[in-house]
Amino acid sequence: MKALLLSGGKGTRLRPITYTSSKQLIPIANKPVLFYGIEQIVSAGIKDIGIVVGDAKEEIKSVVGGGKKWNIKITYIYQKEPLGIAHAVKIAKDYLKNDDFVLYLGDNLLHEDLRGFVSDFKRKKLDCKILLTEVEHPELFGVAQFNKKKVIKLIEKPKNPPSNFALCGIYIFNKNIFPIIEKLKPSHRGEYEITEAIQNLMDKKFKVGHSFVTGWWKDTGKLEDLLEANRIILDRDMEGKISCKIPKDTKIQGRVNIGKNSIISNSTIRGPVIIGDNVVIKDCYIGPYTSINNGCSLNGCEIEYSIILENGKLEKIQGRIDHSLLGKNVEIKSVKKMSAYISLMVGDNSKITLGGRND
Ligand code: DAU
Repeated sequence: MKALLLSGGKGTRLRPITYTSSKQLIPIANKPVLFYGIEQIVSAGIKDIGIVVGDAKEEIKSVVGGGKKWNIKITYIYQKEPLGIAHAVKIAKDYLKNDDFVLYLGDNLLHEDLRGFVSDFKRKKLDCKILLTEVEHPELFGVAQFNKKKVIKLIEKPKNPPSNFALCGIYIFNKNIFPIIEKLKPSHRGEYEITEAIQNLMDKKFKVGHSFVTGWWKDTGKLEDLLEANRIILDRDMEGKISCKIPKDTKIQGRVNIGKNSIISNSTIRGPVIIGDNVVIKDCYIGPYTSINNGCSLNGCEIEYSIILENGKLEKIQGRIDHSLLGKNVEIKSVKKMSAYISLMVGDNSKITLGGRND
């Protein structure tokens, strides 16, 4: 069995960050989202992964590499335009050949092990297996319609959802999906929809099975979901480990992970928090569910429930930064007293001066 991991697309809901970087590389608990998918696939025993990439091809290749990190083989498949998930499968046909494959959307995070899902597909000799989970806003997803316990229909982003059960972005297929995809027409949003392809499989009486997610699942395509995924992973999966010296004037509470060569002074760090390598933190409060990436420097500020990408620089900010995502190399400083709460989604290389001019 192979896996096809999708890492193309435009990431419009995470602009401006995605103007300069791919959404699948945004780190959660300081690890790119895409790595979680790769690890899931690898732990299901799959060692041959094709990654579909778009314009961010070089960036993704340089971060992910050829697969050595996980002892697997990675093949990159270039999708010129994001014409839909089914289109991404279609262009991967030469790579997938006649093998069964897991299709994994690169911005999805699934806590559950994939092994049961894969063995169920094999045992029942299915043509396709889907994963369903209950969501608050089914209209934003592919949605299943049931008759008693049977899935009778799948509809992509319906205005009036027939249930609250969404399709997770993790599927298994065999080669029977290819002739179906060949015949697909673009949907009203101009994409070749995988949901419609699975519906067509069902209509043609191919065997489509489903399971319900028992743990948590997140589509990290929006700020809210990214921050929530960061919270869940820090909360449940991160182990506390401190690889630098902590002076007496600094208080560490709860589970905190700090990387090498970081310098912390006169601060309170209340976990769960992850701090990368070569980070400088002085006179700060770092609150729960915060991920601070390598090379950041924070001086005189309070932050919680936020993600800061590499080399961010925050200086003397009087309000508390909360619920924020800051891109790479972002610099924020304040020069005047200001209100008590700041929430930001700031793209890479931005500079923000709060309370006055940047002199
Ligand atoms: O997250 C689950 C949902 O994923 C499902 O419930 C929907 O049925 C399914 O259509 C999909 O909906 P999204 O609107 O969230 O898909 P999105 O456009 O965000 O693309 C998902 C991933 O696939 C993302 O990592 C980008 C990648 N992609 C997407 C397209 C359209 C590609 O690599 N190429 C593409 O052409």
